[in-house]
Amino acid sequence: MAFERVGVVGLGTMGAGIAEVFARAGLRVIGVEADAEALARGRGHLERSTGKAVDKGRLEPGQRDEILGRVTLTTSREDLRDVDLVVEAIPEILDYKIALFKDLDRICEPATVLATNSSSLSVTAIAAATGRPGQVVGMHFFNPAPVMKLVEVVGTVVSAPGVVADVAALAGRLGKTPVAVGDRAGFVVNRLLLPYLNQAAVLMELGVAGRDDIDAAMKLGVGLPMGPFTLLDLIGLDTAYEVMGVLFDETRDRRHAPAPLLREMVTAGLLGRKSGRGFYGDSPQEEPATSRLGTFGVVGGGGDGPTEGPRAAGGGGGLAERLRAAGFKESEDPDVVLRLADRPVIEHAVRLPDPARMVGVHLVGDQVAELASTVLTSEEAANAARDLVKIAGLTPVPCKDRAGFVVDALLFPYLNDAVRMHDSGYASIDDIDAAMRLGCGYPAGPFEMLESLGLAKVRDGLRALYAEYREPAFAPAPLLDQLVTAGVSRFPRP
Ligand SMILES: NC(=O)c1ccc[n+]([C@@H]2O[C@H](COP(=O)([O-])OP(=O)(O)OC[C@H]3O[C@@H](n4cnc5c(N)ncnc54)[C@H](O)[C@@H]3O)[C@@H](O)[C@H]2O)c1
Repeated sequence: MAFERVGVVGLGTMGAGIAEVFARAGLRVIGVEADAEALARGRGHLERSTGKAVDKGRLEPGQRDEILGRVTLTTSREDLRDVDLVVEAIPEILDYKIALFKDLDRICEPATVLATNSSSLSVTAIAAATGRPGQVVGMHFFNPAPVMKLVEVVGTVVSAPGVVADVAALAGRLGKTPVAVGDRAGFVVNRLLLPYLNQAAVLMELGVAGRDDIDAAMKLGVGLPMGPFTLLDLIGLDTAYEVMGVLFDETRDRRHAPAPLLREMVTAGLLGRKSGRGFYGDSPQEEPATSRLGTFGVVGGGGDGPTEGPRAAGGGGGLAERLRAAGFKESEDPDVVLRLADRPVIEHAVRLPDPARMVGVHLVGDQVAELASTVLTSEEAANAARDLVKIAGLTPVPCKDRAGFVVDALLFPYLNDAVRMHDSGYASIDDIDAAMRLGCGYPAGPFEMLESLGLAKVRDGLRALYAEYREPAFAPAPLLDQLVTAGVSRFPRP
């Protein structure tokens, strides 16, 4: 099927970008908004986005005029009567979408394909509300649409033969990589991404770590393009909240229940970038007071505490060496004991004559040191540990002494979810990896990450998380557990 004229309904965060993508590929676009004011906002999005591309030298001014010239903006849906395809990008609320699709079904020619950009809603339910269920699919772009390469093309049990392939071919023509999937809440990417974002909000609410520290840990420690709170602001907290709600309705998994903080922020109008303020947009978190630095000891890497004396730990990335090189003195009676954490820090701290001096250290990559304070750690020791690791050239991430601290507590359940998703038969390892790389800009897909971290390390980390939080979804996926037991280090691929 040839798609030459397309309609885009809703020109907000996603719709304006989707209209731009179509126009850049030479298609004629009719953009529809709810009212004149929203239409002006949509026009502003399009003009700013293409204007920025010109400023950055990615687009000639003449090309920009051509792109904008292909887009007609209107507040009348009736103008969609001659298009080959409509992509809808209005808010993530099923009733709104069903009402819209019923109307599109009335307006458009019977052969027109109707697509939803929904992140999570049932495409089947939307399709069933129309008189052309075979012609209704999901065409799920990622934010920002002109940049992100992935499009999830969602078929249903009633999709007409060839429709999914035609829409996937169109995505290819737009310069995107299509991944065709079935109709499950959240599809591949949001099913894996949103629980992670939600869990970040939960960790912050529990006081395990602060906003800036969690963002820094995931960005610098794991190499993600941005931390979870920056991403939530980009997505829009209202959209994230609605998607979480849909996931929860389908799965009844407690981890998919939107964090209460999200609801409060959405109600307060703190939606992220689109409203000017979300997790960010206020004053940055206050820097804690600088400590009076003294002597330090580094213990761990298998030992049991200060009885073995301070030493540089094998797996410690040379933390002690870095500190020595920075001019600090090691002592048998140190002001702060940095414990390279291999189990709850408190278990080590209680063996010290002065447990208040112990801070757990977990090095993540070569840039981040998570610093876990126990219930007994003194403020002075926590501050000293923070300043020491900064001087050692690392980014400190202060957190509570909880299993997985920040990074593993957020990363490992996401990896586990990917294993379960694959094991359920929903998507292949390669599709899941490609979807997360291209849809989220991650440096590697979950299976690539699992294999580079080591399957056993992740399995053991999940066991520790499960033991601490008693969350069923943290129990290692049977497939992961069995591969570790069998001594296999790679996931079998066909
Ligand atoms: N935000 C993201 O990162 C993201 C990513 C992928 C998919 N999505 C999905 O895209 C859809 C839109 O989300 P968004 O973040 O762009 O929302 P948004 O709130 O930024 O934009 C929605 C737009 O739809 C318009 N609108 C509302 N009702 C309308 C109607 N009846 N007719 C025409 N326009 C109408 C609004 O005026 C608004 O401009 C949702 O289904 C969402 O799940 C969002």
